[in-house]
Amino acid sequence: MKQIEGLRLPTWLQKIHYVTNPVSYWESAYQTYPDAFWAKGIDFGSPLMVFYTPEAAQQIIENRHGNLTTTSFDSELRAIFGDSSFFTLEGVRHQSVRKLLIPALHGKQIHSYGKLICDLADNLMGELPTNKPFSALDVAQEISMRVMIQLLFGSYQQERYEQIKQLMIGMVNLFASNIGGIPLFFRFLQKDLGPASPWRNFLNQRQQMQDLIYTEIEERRAHPNPAQKDILALLMLACDEQGNLLTNEELLGQVLSLLFTGNESTAASMAWSWYRVYRDSEIHGKLLQELQSLGDSPDPIGLFRLPYLSAVCNETLRMYSVTMFTIPRVVKTTTQIDGFQVNPGTLVTVGTYLLHQREDIYPTAKEFKPERFLERQFSPYEFLPFGGGMRGCIGAEVALYQMKLSLATIVSHYQLELVNHRPINPQRRNTILTPINLMMVKY
Ligand code: HEM
Repeated sequence: MKQIEGLRLPTWLQKIHYVTNPVSYWESAYQTYPDAFWAKGIDFGSPLMVFYTPEAAQQIIENRHGNLTTTSFDSELRAIFGDSSFFTLEGVRHQSVRKLLIPALHGKQIHSYGKLICDLADNLMGELPTNKPFSALDVAQEISMRVMIQLLFGSYQQERYEQIKQLMIGMVNLFASNIGGIPLFFRFLQKDLGPASPWRNFLNQRQQMQDLIYTEIEERRAHPNPAQKDILALLMLACDEQGNLLTNEELLGQVLSLLFTGNESTAASMAWSWYRVYRDSEIHGKLLQELQSLGDSPDPIGLFRLPYLSAVCNETLRMYSVTMFTIPRVVKTTTQIDGFQVNPGTLVTVGTYLLHQREDIYPTAKEFKPERFLERQFSPYEFLPFGGGMRGCIGAEVALYQMKLSLATIVSHYQLELVNHRPINPQRRNTILTPINLMMVKY
């Protein structure tokens, strides 16, 4: 049986490497270990094994023999989400919250947001001044944040939701830079070092956010309104097998997890798709032609189903796998994954970033080629930007809807250009790979 190995660098150095340049960290591991490695640079409180073959992905996602389970690990992200987030829920309660949320984030429910997304993208783009560079990521973040807030809270307390949105953007930006983001990943730096320190700032903003969300929850408990069908309303009805409702702290954890993970990953993926389309006039031309075939006021579902638009978004999700890996699962009993021995207590994950760069699955993987998704169907273990199985992304449909509709709206109605054509490399913002420096201009 094969034994898994790790990079021969001290753990603290690997951590700095991962935090400051995750893509280079992944690629240096891949050059030495083509299928799997110990990722000592990523701190989940226990050793993390990263696998990036379709065979391993299938074993981890399918979990056919039940050797793996969801777990509450000691993640660096506890500082943001608290002790009761989606990422720390396990077992029955995790499954019951998933079951409740999945219908709220699929099918008809999501399609009813189609016009909202198109209008938001249109209005935000329309408001931007012409001939003045703007940050693509900021615009994408505004779109996805507004959609998320609507999904989470509906539209009852607009003023409060606007405050939540502003705090959220502030918190995301606090750790945006490589250096500024370091405290998020090194727990010993998570200390209040006085009024000007980033950690104090973070704690203040998190406290304000917590107060606003608790006020919202208390008001809803005091005045229940059965007409409210937003995600918070659904979460407030969730019970475990003993019939216990989620506590306020657990509700806060879920709301923060949805706001943070859903927003950052969707905004980054949207911005990456704009980057690729406006970088290549041939891709832009093909997309515009396809969009024009639907006439002047296309139905959002019709847009969602367009093959080339879908291929562009899939290729974006492949090339820029913004989350980089799936949520770790814990191994219960000694097992083998893709021929490697894995012992109980180990955390395992699918390294989607590396899997999506494999030349044996995606020839000329470093090139952006939407056509590959028209020419071939990839299996759910070759292409898995949203993971799968027990922890598969519950927001995949919402995310794809936002990506496709915002791209379609922008390409159909606006003339944009990249401010410069130098390649933009993915940089970590919080836990997501983003095009931080992508500037565009509207004519
Ligand atoms: C392009 C955008 C997005 C990407 C690439 C993405 C990717 C992922 C991935 C890779 C996972 C882990 C899956 C696994 O471990 O098997 C995940 C989990 C999750 N995602 Fe997303 N996601 C996106 C958007 C969203 C949105 C919009 C929401 C909320 C509406 C969301 C909510 C979640 C939640 C709650 C989990 C944890 C599920 C669990 O623990 O059971 N995501 N996402």
